[in-house]
Amino acid sequence: MEKGDTHKMLTAFVEGMEEAGATVETIFAKRFKIRPCLGDFDCWYEKVGKCSQTDDMEKLYPKFREADILVLAIPIYFPLPGEIQNLLNRLMPLIEPILEFRDGRTRAKFHDDVKISKIVLVSTGGWWEKENMDLVVHFVEHMAKDASVEFSGAVLRPHAFLMNKYKEKAEEVLSETRKAGTQLIKEGKMSKDTLEGISRPLEPEKELREWYNDAYQKAKESSL
Ligand SMILES: Cc1cc2nc3c(=O)[nH]c(=O)nc-3n(C[C@H](O)[C@H](O)[C@H](O)COP(=O)(O)O)c2cc1C
Repeated sequence: MEKGDTHKMLTAFVEGMEEAGATVETIFAKRFKIRPCLGDFDCWYEKVGKCSQTDDMEKLYPKFREADILVLAIPIYFPLPGEIQNLLNRLMPLIEPILEFRDGRTRAKFHDDVKISKIVLVSTGGWWEKENMDLVVHFVEHMAKDASVEFSGAVLRPHAFLMNKYKEKAEEVLSETRKAGTQLIKEGKMSKDTLEGISRPLEPEKELREWYNDAYQKAKESSL
């Protein structure tokens, strides 16, 4: 959590948002007792807008209803950590199931008491290329479309752990990340250049791949 690279990126992004005047609250999915969704659709067809389970989500629903922007900070865990998946599934009571068919897709929207108008992704991964994070980008984009709100883009940091090795480049990445947070609040969107700067390669692909393969080779030899 706080020690991770996703938090490092999120912190910079939030600083940028706060500099631009936003009030931000960070919630760590792992710190709350959030059971998996039961899939009974009670929140849609029994007690509208209310989950039948009683756990920490009760404390979180009001926060999600009040927020203007939802920033999801997700490390890639092929595709996402279970705790975050559980939390996202439990957002179902926020969705009003009046279905529409737009551009060949079934869509719903948030209930009127949910203020969220934009969803943003901040994500880190271990592999070299940012395209490896496409699955999660697509997932969050899909979620925004299903709720009929804007997907405002993805702040992506591939091979994020190398920020510890390349301190100067890391500072530049974090500064661009702050800038993205400020842009989101001040201009309503993050620029393509800023997002590309955040995802820039920190070292050549071959070098990183060889480092991974050496690390595995050493581990294999030492466990013989
Ligand atoms: C179970 C697991 C699966 C992972 N799968 C991927 C993956 O598919 N692609 C990737 O780029 N990184 C993958 N990673 C690496 C993490 O995404 C990466 O180290 C990330 O920066 C961790 O963020 P954190 O420091 O906030 O925990 C995986 C890590 C774990 C533990």
